[in-house]
Amino acid sequence: MINIRNFVIFSHIDHGKSTLADRFLELTNTIPKDKMRSRFLDMMDLEREKGITIKMQPVRMKWNAGGQDYILNLIDTPGHVDFNYEVSRSLAAVEGGILLVDATKGIQAQTLANLELAQKQKLVIISAANKIDFAHAKIQETKQDIAKILDISPDQVFAISGKEGTNTEQLLEAVIKKVPPPKGDENKPLKALVFDSKYDSYKGVIAYVRLFDGKIKTGDKIYLMQAGVETQVKEVGYFLPQLKPCQELKAGEIGYIATGIKETSDVRVGETITSVQNKETSSLPGYKEPKPMVFASIYPENSNDFEILQEALKKLKLNDAALIFERERKEFLGRGFKCGFLGTLHAEIICERLRREFGLNLIISTPSVVYKFIDKKDNEKLIYSASDWPEITSIKQTEEPWVELEVITPVNYLGNVSELLKESKAVQIETKYLSNERLILIYEIPLRKIIVGFFDKLKGVSQGFASMNYEILGYRPADLVKVDILIAGEKEDIFSKVVEKNEAYSQGRKIVSKLKEILPSQLFTVPVQAAISGKIIARETIRARRRDVTAPLYGGDVTRKRKLLERQKKGKKKLKARGQISIPSKVFLEMFKEG
Ligand code: GTP
Repeated sequence: MINIRNFVIFSHIDHGKSTLADRFLELTNTIPKDKMRSRFLDMMDLEREKGITIKMQPVRMKWNAGGQDYILNLIDTPGHVDFNYEVSRSLAAVEGGILLVDATKGIQAQTLANLELAQKQKLVIISAANKIDFAHAKIQETKQDIAKILDISPDQVFAISGKEGTNTEQLLEAVIKKVPPPKGDENKPLKALVFDSKYDSYKGVIAYVRLFDGKIKTGDKIYLMQAGVETQVKEVGYFLPQLKPCQELKAGEIGYIATGIKETSDVRVGETITSVQNKETSSLPGYKEPKPMVFASIYPENSNDFEILQEALKKLKLNDAALIFERERKEFLGRGFKCGFLGTLHAEIICERLRREFGLNLIISTPSVVYKFIDKKDNEKLIYSASDWPEITSIKQTEEPWVELEVITPVNYLGNVSELLKESKAVQIETKYLSNERLILIYEIPLRKIIVGFFDKLKGVSQGFASMNYEILGYRPADLVKVDILIAGEKEDIFSKVVEKNEAYSQGRKIVSKLKEILPSQLFTVPVQAAISGKIIARETIRARRRDVTAPLYGGDVTRKRKLLERQKKGKKKLKARGQISIPSKVFLEMFKEG
């Protein structure tokens, strides 16, 4: 155990974690040069396409330093705030962390947020200013800023280029010197923390574990303490990063246990695994449950796919513990799920994974925060989707969640950033200097205002230099109304949205014009309307696509032509009466992204 080091790389989004991990994989020969591809640990296609890390990824590396062989267990983590639960879970499995700061961008919001998590976990932190190969990298300034937040000397901060490999070997050596070996006793009863998992159709649930005490091998009988479930181990192994079976895992190591369990809800992150002989042992602290605040309803386009969607969500939850879901039923749509996410990017990724990994076509409601309504008898109810919004007459008060928003910006973008915050009606609380050139602005704002598009706007007004993080404060009164959407006269609840009363008209117009843009035209004219309590506030018209039924006719047979056109008219009327509008899956996804 003395020769094991467990560590993570953490930073703000895009500061270069996965690229630095590539250099470590090369240095340690874990991945031969000819098999190397950039951002190797971003293994999902979706991660590679979007250029962001979504999943944490552990990998075991071997390294010889000073004549000693070491086992280095690295966990690469995501940087985007929506995937923060992945970071906090990784931190509980390691003793140390490399804090990376892009020297062209400086300290940003998730640098501080993730640092705070690492410090709470009492990790040993090694820091580095990255991307020093860029001519405009502010190396000294970044080192000083990092030194200030860590309360160390700037000389202790590494200056590296993950891309070119400059000083990356020295950084890895520092991990060996500074990160302590794991504590624990392999002769004590088994105690393994489940920090992640995934489903395998042959081996059942594969639990990603950190062993704190004891040892485990194939065939051992184990006990999952929270679930109260016994099983026999099918296989143990470690990450290369693909699964590599081994004889045994021991205290201090990071690896996986193939549990053979087929019931996905039996294996939860934060679970303690022990041996069946030690059922009475105390469990490890586990994790705080994440609190999703953004909800959307997901329905299969084909109602026969309900069971497949249910299985898919269960399997995805194993791999994405922040996702929550609950069955619901809606008129017209049938059976589906109310799903909770940590943010809209998280929601978008889940919908995309459902589509790609399980081949599902989905109907997805506009994402919404969780509102609260208090009726005239003072009963409180949480509202997860606009379609559940109560009748105006029964409402005494409506409330919505507020957040404390922390924005970090270089001083020269302060004007633009403040303007954006003012436009968004954020309430200013505090402004502090983080360094000579960098400010932390603290505001309070309704969560609804920042879940869709705000981050992009912030990046837009600051050329990508300003960044944000937020924490939920609680519920506050709000003047809200529901905007209904009618397509061809039929209420389409899935597109309805709860908005601030004074924004209802502009929001209604925005939704109908977006729908006009993306709804395919039908054989008849389709009105798209927005309404509040039955009163129309906006309207667009999608003009009919005229199918030329007379095309096969040539010559001058006018009567026959007229007859055909008459028949077509009747057919259209029939369709219209039944409200038969075909709305393809991609329309729901498009509207969903718009929020
Ligand atoms: P997330 O996990 O999504 O937060 O990103 P990340 O922190 O893993 O960053 P990633 O390694 O994906 O790098 C982001 C971008 O910066 C990519 O385009 C990299 O090629 C680039 N990059 C990373 N390190 C360096 C570096 O040292 N120099 C230069 N010039 N570019 C770098």
